[in-house]
Amino acid sequence: MTVTCNPKVAMVSGGGRGIGLEIVRELLSRNWKVSVGMRTPRDLFPEHHENLLVTYFDATVEQSEEDWIAKTAEKFGQIDAIVHNAGVLSDRSVLEASESQFDEIFDINVKSPMRLTQKLWRYLVDSEAGKVIIIASLAAKRIRAPEATLYSISKFAALGLAHSLRVCGDPVNVRVTAICPGFVATDMASYVPLEKLKKLTQPEDVAKTVSMVLELPSTASIAEIPINWTAEPQY
Ligand SMILES: NC(=O)c1ccc[n+]([C@@H]2O[C@H](COP(=O)([O-])OP(=O)(O)OC[C@H]3O[C@@H](n4cnc5c(N)ncnc54)[C@H](OP(=O)(O)O)[C@@H]3O)[C@@H](O)[C@H]2O)c1
Repeated sequence: MTVTCNPKVAMVSGGGRGIGLEIVRELLSRNWKVSVGMRTPRDLFPEHHENLLVTYFDATVEQSEEDWIAKTAEKFGQIDAIVHNAGVLSDRSVLEASESQFDEIFDINVKSPMRLTQKLWRYLVDSEAGKVIIIASLAAKRIRAPEATLYSISKFAALGLAHSLRVCGDPVNVRVTAICPGFVATDMASYVPLEKLKKLTQPEDVAKTVSMVLELPSTASIAEIPINWTAEPQY
Protein backbone atom coordinates (compact mmCIF):
# COMPACT_ATOMS: atom_id res chain seq x y z
CA MET A 1 0.00 0.00 0.00
CA THR A 2 1.35 3.42 -0.90
CA VAL A 3 0.96 5.93 1.88
CA THR A 4 1.47 9.62 1.35
CA CYS A 5 3.26 11.76 3.88
CA ASN A 6 5.00 15.10 3.48
CA PRO A 7 7.85 14.46 1.05
CA LYS A 8 10.94 14.37 3.16
CA VAL A 9 14.52 13.46 2.32
CA ALA A 10 16.35 10.53 3.88
CA MET A 11 19.90 9.33 3.31
CA VAL A 12 20.46 5.58 3.62
CA SER A 13 23.97 4.10 3.74
CA GLY A 14 24.65 0.66 2.28
CA GLY A 15 21.34 0.68 0.44
CA GLY A 16 22.36 -1.70 -2.34
CA ARG A 17 21.40 -4.97 -0.67
CA GLY A 18 20.11 -6.60 2.50
CA ILE A 19 18.38 -4.43 5.10
CA GLY A 20 19.45 -1.19 3.41
CA LEU A 21 17.81 -2.09 0.09
CA GLU A 22 14.52 -2.88 1.84
CA ILE A 23 14.68 0.42 3.72
CA VAL A 24 15.10 2.25 0.41
CA ARG A 25 12.19 0.31 -1.14
CA GLU A 26 9.93 0.98 1.85
CA LEU A 27 10.71 4.70 2.05
CA LEU A 28 10.17 5.22 -1.68
CA SER A 29 6.80 3.46 -1.41
CA ARG A 30 5.91 5.90 1.37
CA ASN A 31 6.65 8.97 -0.73
CA TRP A 32 10.07 9.76 0.73
CA LYS A 33 12.87 11.16 -1.37
CA VAL A 34 15.81 8.86 -0.82
CA SER A 35 19.54 9.35 -1.26
CA VAL A 36 21.39 6.05 -1.25
CA GLY A 37 25.10 5.89 -0.51
CA MET A 38 26.76 2.72 -1.74
CA ARG A 39 30.20 1.45 -2.71
CA THR A 40 29.20 0.35 -6.20
CA PRO A 41 26.39 2.63 -7.38
CA ARG A 42 23.91 1.06 -9.74
CA ASP A 43 20.51 1.89 -11.12
CA LEU A 44 18.12 1.04 -8.26
CA PHE A 45 14.36 1.35 -8.81
CA PRO A 46 14.46 3.33 -12.12
CA GLU A 47 10.69 3.95 -11.82
CA HIS A 48 11.47 6.24 -8.86
CA HIS A 49 14.10 8.23 -10.75
CA GLU A 50 12.85 11.65 -9.56
CA ASN A 51 12.76 10.72 -5.89
CA LEU A 52 15.94 8.69 -5.83
CA LEU A 53 19.63 9.52 -5.90
CA VAL A 54 22.31 6.83 -5.86
CA THR A 55 25.78 8.06 -5.01
CA TYR A 56 29.18 6.55 -4.33
CA PHE A 57 29.85 6.27 -0.61
CA ASP A 58 32.48 4.16 1.11
CA ALA A 59 32.63 4.39 4.90
CA THR A 60 36.41 4.09 4.73
CA VAL A 61 36.78 7.05 2.34
CA GLU A 62 36.09 10.28 4.23
CA GLN A 63 35.79 12.46 1.14
CA SER A 64 32.94 10.28 -0.11
CA GLU A 65 30.88 11.36 2.92
CA GLU A 66 31.12 15.05 2.01
CA ASP A 67 30.44 14.33 -1.66
CA TRP A 68 27.36 12.24 -0.83
CA ILE A 69 25.91 14.97 1.43
CA ALA A 70 26.65 17.71 -1.14
CA LYS A 71 24.99 15.75 -3.97
CA THR A 72 21.96 15.02 -1.79
CA ALA A 73 21.52 18.69 -0.85
CA GLU A 74 22.01 19.70 -4.48
CA LYS A 75 19.32 17.33 -5.81
CA PHE A 76 16.72 17.62 -3.05
CA GLY A 77 17.52 20.95 -1.34
CA GLN A 78 17.06 19.55 2.18
CA ILE A 79 18.04 16.54 4.33
CA ASP A 80 15.63 15.45 7.06
CA ALA A 81 16.98 12.09 8.09
CA ILE A 82 19.84 9.64 7.84
CA VAL A 83 19.75 5.89 8.34
CA HIS A 84 23.21 4.56 9.21
CA ASN A 85 22.81 1.05 7.87
CA ALA A 86 26.17 0.16 6.26
CA GLY A 87 28.05 -2.25 8.48
CA VAL A 88 30.36 -5.22 8.57
CA LEU A 89 30.49 -8.39 10.63
CA SER A 90 33.54 -10.07 12.12
CA ASP A 91 34.11 -13.54 13.48
CA ARG A 92 37.07 -12.45 15.62
CA SER A 93 37.05 -12.63 19.38
CA VAL A 94 38.47 -9.71 21.33
CA LEU A 95 41.31 -12.02 22.37
CA GLU A 96 42.35 -12.62 18.76
CA ALA A 97 41.55 -9.34 17.03
CA SER A 98 44.47 -7.51 15.46
CA GLU A 99 44.72 -3.71 15.51
CA SER A 100 43.87 -3.55 11.83
CA GLN A 101 40.76 -5.74 12.29
CA PHE A 102 39.69 -3.51 15.18
CA ASP A 103 40.32 -0.35 13.15
CA GLU A 104 38.44 -1.64 10.10
CA ILE A 105 35.26 -2.59 11.94
CA PHE A 106 35.26 0.58 14.05
CA ASP A 107 35.88 2.73 10.95
CA ILE A 108 32.79 1.35 9.24
CA ASN A 109 30.41 0.64 12.13
CA VAL A 110 31.20 3.64 14.34
CA LYS A 111 33.52 6.34 13.01
CA SER A 112 31.88 6.92 9.66
CA PRO A 113 28.35 7.23 11.15
CA MET A 114 29.74 9.76 13.64
CA ARG A 115 31.50 11.79 10.94
CA LEU A 116 28.54 11.68 8.57
CA THR A 117 26.22 12.92 11.32
CA GLN A 118 28.61 15.75 12.20
CA LYS A 119 28.81 16.81 8.57
CA LEU A 120 25.05 16.87 7.90
CA TRP A 121 23.93 18.07 11.33
CA ARG A 122 23.06 21.57 10.12
CA TYR A 123 20.58 20.11 7.62
CA LEU A 124 18.94 18.03 10.35
CA VAL A 125 18.62 21.11 12.54
CA ASP A 126 17.20 23.15 9.64
CA SER A 127 14.63 20.40 9.09
CA GLU A 128 13.17 21.27 12.52
CA ALA A 129 12.26 17.60 12.99
CA GLY A 130 15.48 15.82 11.98
CA LYS A 131 15.92 12.10 12.53
CA VAL A 132 18.94 9.84 12.86
CA ILE A 133 18.63 6.06 12.90
CA ILE A 134 21.54 3.77 13.61
CA ILE A 135 21.07 0.13 12.68
CA ALA A 136 22.94 -1.28 15.66
CA SER A 137 22.23 -4.88 16.69
CA LEU A 138 21.18 -7.08 19.58
CA ALA A 139 24.94 -7.66 19.65
CA ALA A 140 25.00 -4.15 21.14
CA LYS A 141 22.80 -5.32 24.01
CA ARG A 142 24.27 -8.64 25.07
CA ILE A 143 27.32 -10.80 24.31
CA ARG A 144 26.37 -14.00 22.51
CA ALA A 145 29.60 -15.94 21.89
CA PRO A 146 33.37 -15.36 21.85
CA GLU A 147 33.46 -15.20 18.05
CA ALA A 148 30.91 -12.39 18.11
CA THR A 149 32.82 -10.16 20.52
CA LEU A 150 34.78 -7.89 18.17
CA TYR A 151 31.53 -7.20 16.29
CA SER A 152 29.74 -6.71 19.62
CA ILE A 153 32.09 -4.06 20.92
CA SER A 154 31.74 -2.13 17.67
CA LYS A 155 27.94 -2.30 17.97
CA PHE A 156 28.04 -1.37 21.67
CA ALA A 157 29.96 1.72 20.50
CA ALA A 158 27.39 2.36 17.74
CA LEU A 159 24.64 2.17 20.36
CA GLY A 160 26.60 4.59 22.55
CA LEU A 161 26.88 6.90 19.56
CA ALA A 162 23.10 6.79 19.12
CA HIS A 163 22.49 7.68 22.76
CA SER A 164 25.11 10.44 22.60
CA LEU A 165 23.57 11.96 19.50
CA ARG A 166 20.14 11.69 21.14
CA VAL A 167 21.31 13.93 23.97
CA CYS A 168 23.04 16.35 21.58
CA GLY A 169 19.93 16.47 19.38
CA ASP A 170 17.37 17.16 22.07
CA PRO A 171 17.77 20.96 22.23
CA VAL A 172 17.45 21.24 18.44
CA ASN A 173 14.62 18.76 17.95
CA VAL A 174 16.75 16.08 16.26
CA ARG A 175 15.55 12.64 17.38
CA VAL A 176 17.89 9.65 17.35
CA THR A 177 17.00 5.97 17.53
CA ALA A 178 19.07 2.79 17.62
CA ILE A 179 17.38 -0.20 16.03
CA CYS A 180 18.80 -3.43 17.43
CA PRO A 181 17.92 -6.54 15.43
CA GLY A 182 18.98 -10.07 16.20
CA PHE A 183 19.56 -12.32 13.18
CA VAL A 184 18.09 -10.91 9.98
CA ALA A 185 17.87 -13.01 6.82
CA THR A 186 20.50 -11.24 4.68
CA ASP A 187 23.96 -12.09 3.34
CA MET A 188 25.30 -11.25 6.79
CA ALA A 189 23.42 -14.23 8.24
CA SER A 190 24.33 -16.54 5.36
CA TYR A 191 26.03 -18.98 7.70
CA VAL A 192 22.69 -19.64 9.44
CA PRO A 193 21.33 -23.08 8.38
CA LEU A 194 18.80 -22.87 5.55
CA GLU A 195 15.91 -24.40 7.54
CA LYS A 196 16.30 -21.61 10.13
CA LEU A 197 16.58 -18.75 7.61
CA LYS A 198 12.82 -18.42 7.05
CA LYS A 199 12.23 -18.01 10.77
CA LEU A 200 14.64 -15.11 11.05
CA THR A 201 13.57 -11.49 11.10
CA GLN A 202 13.20 -10.40 7.47
CA PRO A 203 14.88 -7.25 6.13
CA GLU A 204 11.38 -5.94 5.30
CA ASP A 205 10.47 -6.13 9.02
CA VAL A 206 13.39 -3.86 9.89
CA ALA A 207 12.50 -1.53 7.01
CA LYS A 208 8.93 -1.11 8.34
CA THR A 209 10.31 -0.32 11.78
CA VAL A 210 12.58 2.33 10.25
CA SER A 211 9.74 4.04 8.39
CA MET A 212 7.57 3.99 11.52
CA VAL A 213 10.30 5.73 13.53
CA LEU A 214 11.03 8.25 10.77
CA GLU A 215 7.37 9.19 10.45
CA LEU A 216 6.62 9.62 14.16
CA PRO A 217 6.45 13.22 15.33
CA SER A 218 9.36 14.46 17.41
CA THR A 219 7.05 14.39 20.45
CA ALA A 220 7.63 10.61 20.37
CA SER A 221 11.35 10.11 21.00
CA ILE A 222 12.39 6.46 20.84
CA ALA A 223 15.85 5.62 22.14
CA GLU A 224 16.12 1.95 21.15
CA ILE A 225 14.07 -0.74 19.49
CA PRO A 226 15.24 -4.32 20.01
CA ILE A 227 13.86 -6.77 17.40
CA ASN A 228 14.32 -10.52 17.68
CA TRP A 229 13.33 -13.52 15.58
CA THR A 230 13.07 -15.61 18.76
CA ALA A 231 12.61 -15.09 22.50
CA GLU A 232 15.69 -14.66 24.63
CA PRO A 233 15.63 -13.53 28.25
CA GLN A 234 14.82 -9.79 28.02
CA TYR A 235 15.00 -9.72 24.19
N1 LIG B 1 21.84 -9.47 9.15
C1 LIG B 1 21.86 -9.49 10.48
O1 LIG B 1 21.71 -10.55 11.11
C2 LIG B 1 22.01 -8.19 11.24
C3 LIG B 1 21.62 -8.18 12.59
C4 LIG B 1 21.76 -7.01 13.32
C5 LIG B 1 22.26 -5.86 12.74
N2 LIG B 1 22.64 -5.90 11.43
C6 LIG B 1 23.21 -4.67 10.87
O2 LIG B 1 22.38 -4.24 9.80
C7 LIG B 1 23.15 -3.48 8.87
C8 LIG B 1 22.90 -4.02 7.47
O3 LIG B 1 23.35 -5.36 7.42
P1 LIG B 1 22.75 -6.46 6.43
O4 LIG B 1 22.21 -7.54 7.27
O5 LIG B 1 21.90 -5.83 5.40
O6 LIG B 1 24.12 -7.01 5.82
P2 LIG B 1 24.65 -7.13 4.33
O7 LIG B 1 23.61 -7.74 3.46
O8 LIG B 1 25.97 -7.80 4.50
O9 LIG B 1 24.84 -5.61 3.88
C9 LIG B 1 25.84 -4.81 4.43
C10 LIG B 1 25.74 -3.46 3.75
O10 LIG B 1 26.77 -2.63 4.27
C11 LIG B 1 27.51 -2.09 3.18
N3 LIG B 1 28.90 -1.82 3.50
C12 LIG B 1 29.83 -2.65 4.03
N4 LIG B 1 31.01 -2.05 4.11
C13 LIG B 1 30.84 -0.79 3.63
C14 LIG B 1 31.67 0.33 3.46
N5 LIG B 1 32.99 0.29 3.74
N6 LIG B 1 31.15 1.45 2.93
C15 LIG B 1 29.84 1.53 2.59
N7 LIG B 1 29.00 0.49 2.72
C16 LIG B 1 29.49 -0.65 3.24
C17 LIG B 1 27.40 -3.17 2.11
O11 LIG B 1 27.74 -2.62 0.86
P3 LIG B 1 28.36 -3.53 -0.34
O12 LIG B 1 27.18 -4.09 -1.07
O13 LIG B 1 29.19 -2.56 -1.13
O14 LIG B 1 29.21 -4.60 0.30
C18 LIG B 1 25.96 -3.56 2.25
O15 LIG B 1 25.10 -2.66 1.60
C19 LIG B 1 24.61 -3.60 9.33
O16 LIG B 1 24.97 -2.46 10.06
C20 LIG B 1 24.57 -4.82 10.25
O17 LIG B 1 25.60 -4.80 11.21
C21 LIG B 1 22.52 -7.03 10.67
